Amino acid sequence: MILVTGGAGFIGGNFVLDWLADLDNEGIINLDKLTYAGNLETLESLRGDPRHIFVHGDIGDKELVSKLLKEYQPRAIVNFAAESHVDRSIHGPAEFIATNIVGTFNLLESAREYWSGLDDSARRAFRFHHVSTDEVYGSLSAGDPAFTETSTFEPNSPYSASKAASDHLVRAWFHTYGFPVVTTNCSNNYGPYHFPEKLIPLVILNAINRKPLPIYGDGQQIRDWLYVGDHCSAIREVLAKGALGETYNIGGWNEKTNMDVVKTICSILDELKPRSDGKSYSEQITFVKDRPGHDRRYAIDASKVEKKLGWRPAETFDTGIRKTVQWYLDNPNWIDGVVSGAYRDWLSKQYK
Ligand code: NAD
Ligand code: TYD
Repeated sequence: MILVTGGAGFIGGNFVLDWLADLDNEGIINLDKLTYAGNLETLESLRGDPRHIFVHGDIGDKELVSKLLKEYQPRAIVNFAAESHVDRSIHGPAEFIATNIVGTFNLLESAREYWSGLDDSARRAFRFHHVSTDEVYGSLSAGDPAFTETSTFEPNSPYSASKAASDHLVRAWFHTYGFPVVTTNCSNNYGPYHFPEKLIPLVILNAINRKPLPIYGDGQQIRDWLYVGDHCSAIREVLAKGALGETYNIGGWNEKTNMDVVKTICSILDELKPRSDGKSYSEQITFVKDRPGHDRRYAIDASKVEKKLGWRPAETFDTGIRKTVQWYLDNPNWIDGVVSGAYRDWLSKQYK
């Protein structure tokens, strides 16, 4: 078995589905707290599959985590569980400290205790894979080189600061205790099952519901987009072949301004689901107040994972974004399931 945390969220959910699609892979214990961002509908196709054991709980609950580790004896932990939305971290950072820092600390401690008690060969084979973000490196200016694994940590938001802290804990557990960790720092993901508070799914849903498409500030901020399936394949490579204690930057060499991303989505929708009045969805673009402390540019240099582990993304931005828009058009039931009253409350708080 492997233990996946946060496997009912966007990336964790895609990872669980992709992993179990390969029948040669082991089963998964999926520990998730089911916050607003965790959706069991994402895992619906696994209902009744004995290789998927879902456990509702918190990574910070040492008693529960220790019990799961003892019972299922996993050979690896892949830690996706986190609070992940920058705007929410600005409104309320406490949960980010609790899960991303204290939760990761407790998970590391439970895992270290379990690992210490394993026999030699199981101890050597064990891996703790920490899933992190490029946002720990801070913000780039236009001409700066992309982030490498040796770029300085300069987090600017409560979210990125909490993730940076968790990365430091993971690093320290390797150096101090010899605990066998690998860390990946990935750029912005997009794809199926993405909660519609983040830019790409929010814009797709607002467009088809004829609502404004909110662009923060001047819309010229740059993100480096990676299709979620490619992030999952990179994690599988690093988990299998990554060197202990190392970090790997994961990205798709796809820098785009927010405005370009939104216009691309509009033109795909114009083609796949034209507006009844014949106008373009881009007419719905609306500039709104900028995010405080908004990072200007992220860009990942993924040469290390490419050279050392031979990983390459399978999707370009053009193929991935088209698949993604089509997925949202084809899956209204999943959308209905996640667009709850709490989601509507968030929209009115953020875009009031
Ligand atoms: P998400 O918000 O969609 O999902 C997070 C999941 O973690 C949810 O299912 C939630 O219920 C669960 N969770 C939250 N707190 C928990 C806790 N205390 N115990 C157990 N489960 C808990 O996030 P995501 O976009 O899937 O991101 C997953 C990981 O990847 C995060 O660590 C994030 O920092 C990192 N990451 C995300 C991106 C991105 O673009 N989304 C890019 C790079 C790295
Ligand atoms: P987001 O998807 O929240 O990811 P992150 O902040 O982790 O990069 O935002 C991506 C970019 O889109 C970011 O520059 C903020 C911007 N953005 C908007 O312009 N409007 C929106 O409504 C949202 C949610 C984001």
